[in-house]
Amino acid sequence: MKATAIAGSNVAFVKYWGCLDPELNLPLNNSLSLTLDQAHSIVTVEFSPHVGEDRIELEGVAVMGAPRERMVRFLDHLRRLARVTDPARVVSRTSFPVATGLASSASLYAALTIAGLAALGLSYDERTVSTIARLGSGSAARSVYGGWVEWVAGGRHEDSYAYPLAPRDWWPLEDIIVIVSEEPKEASSAAGHRAAASSPCFAGRLARAGEHVALARTAILTRDLALLGRIAEEEALLLHAVTMTGEPPLLYWRPATVAVIRQVLAWRREGVPVYYTLDAGPNVHVLTPPEHAARLATGLCAIPGVIHTMVCQPGGPPQLGDVHNF
Ligand code: DP6
Repeated sequence: MKATAIAGSNVAFVKYWGCLDPELNLPLNNSLSLTLDQAHSIVTVEFSPHVGEDRIELEGVAVMGAPRERMVRFLDHLRRLARVTDPARVVSRTSFPVATGLASSASLYAALTIAGLAALGLSYDERTVSTIARLGSGSAARSVYGGWVEWVAGGRHEDSYAYPLAPRDWWPLEDIIVIVSEEPKEASSAAGHRAAASSPCFAGRLARAGEHVALARTAILTRDLALLGRIAEEEALLLHAVTMTGEPPLLYWRPATVAVIRQVLAWRREGVPVYYTLDAGPNVHVLTPPEHAARLATGLCAIPGVIHTMVCQPGGPPQLGDVHNF
């Protein structure tokens, strides 16, 4: 009844922002992402009558309040599938700062899904596993696969799942994660999804999403970085326009966020193939081919306000392991 899994976080090129159904994490548009190798969560879960009540520890800290309730709801779903009532102990370790806009909920819930199903002796096809992970965190639906992934919005629980568009070795693009803040953000993604529809920019973002999905899919399948980069940048700006103008307004950017974006634009004017994107936080993803990554990472580290960088390559699917967190 104990299992451990590792799963990569992902960077979204076309974003999930705003829900059709916040209970089921049903999105309003398809989204596309790349699973990352260095940015991952390792989750151990054990279901046992001896645990007492659900005990959840993330990054060495016992989780309380809303994040605990969210995970207990997800564990309840797994227990219903297995027809068991045993409480669970969950311990997660993540390789990057959590709740800072780097999709830690994607890697956390993807790893918890894989470990939880294994611990309960359950086995499903990949599409069903993706729908289950989505109930924990929307973006986790994509992190149950390695490589390049599309999440089909669907309109009902069974129809909203991700599928692999191309394997990790399809295209050796690198993602330099630029950390400008390690502080947990003030508002969760869940709060952001709820506030999204109140923004006057929301309809504009959604109107572009269908075209962006089609273009980004083509860009991935033809390995066209200029096209993928243009979409990823516009998607980031539309997402942040929505967060800044919603009710309540959420401003995730730090001065160093802007400095990193300006540096990327300056390099591009010099002819370097490099693009940026951001998810719901201040930290920046910088996308570039492998031959440029080391030099650009050094340059990014020299920008005032940049704490450190993590150079990620396309990651594989989640794996079960036998080294447990407890
Ligand atoms: C901005 O998947 O973190 O990263 O379902 O509340 O966990 P929850 O939301 P989450 O939303 C993140 C959205 C995003 C864009 C994306 O990953 O598509």
